[in-house]
Amino acid sequence: MITIKSQREIELMRATSKLAADTLRFIETKLEIGMSTEQINTLCHNYIIEHNAIPAPLNYHGFPKSVCTSLNEVICHGIPNEKDILKNGDLLNIDVTTILNGFHGDTNKTFLIGDVSPEAKKLVLVTKKCLDESIKVVRPGAKLGDIGACIQEIAHGHGYSVVREYCGHGIGRDFHEDPQVLHYGTKGTGVTLKEGMTFTIEPMINLGERHSKVLSDDWTVVTQDNSLSAQFEHTILVTQSGVEILTL
Ligand code: MF3
Ligand code: CO
Ligand code: CO
Repeated sequence: MITIKSQREIELMRATSKLAADTLRFIETKLEIGMSTEQINTLCHNYIIEHNAIPAPLNYHGFPKSVCTSLNEVICHGIPNEKDILKNGDLLNIDVTTILNGFHGDTNKTFLIGDVSPEAKKLVLVTKKCLDESIKVVRPGAKLGDIGACIQEIAHGHGYSVVREYCGHGIGRDFHEDPQVLHYGTKGTGVTLKEGMTFTIEPMINLGERHSKVLSDDWTVVTQDNSLSAQFEHTILVTQSGVEILTL
């Protein structure tokens, strides 16, 4: 069931989403070569708690930390730890989800650590473009398939692949609500978008093949061929005239 948010619920979605975006802006100022992903987790955890919110990933289906930190060939759901130290040339995705006043805000960004190779930088820029362009197709009457088709076209146009095992999702009182927002698909197909829907778009784009596997920690998702992967995520609202990015 896809929930349509009331005006009051939309205000609460705006507030939690702003906090999630603020957390990413805060952690960006702290990133430096030599720090561990555990330190990143602690800084984000404290920032969220200090703003009277809860980090949604902590204990979510047993996830042990407060944010996801995904380095290089890690596609998503990387677990912060003391052994993963940021080094020059890394791609680091930090995925922040807040719960404020009972509502979830979910956003992620891939950061370039130090001097990144031109080919890695291009992957990140194209992945950002996949998110930005797919948001522009969102308006009442558009179809979910329009979003996936847009992402797929841009990624394939650069010779990249689109991860299929993980997708965007409705969001609100629950972390993951209906619908599933696939990052591939066919224009004109799927659920029709309506004013008041809130969902994420969060394309994961690989330099090599699209296939993924989960490591023995049961969380960390990596590319099967060890190629680099990048991701960006926003929580968005379908408005009367189009779209509002809640995690801007
Ligand atoms: N934030 C992720 C998403 O975009 C979900 C992380 S689930 C966790 O949907 F348990 F790994 F935190
Ligand atoms: Co999400
Ligand atoms: Co997320």
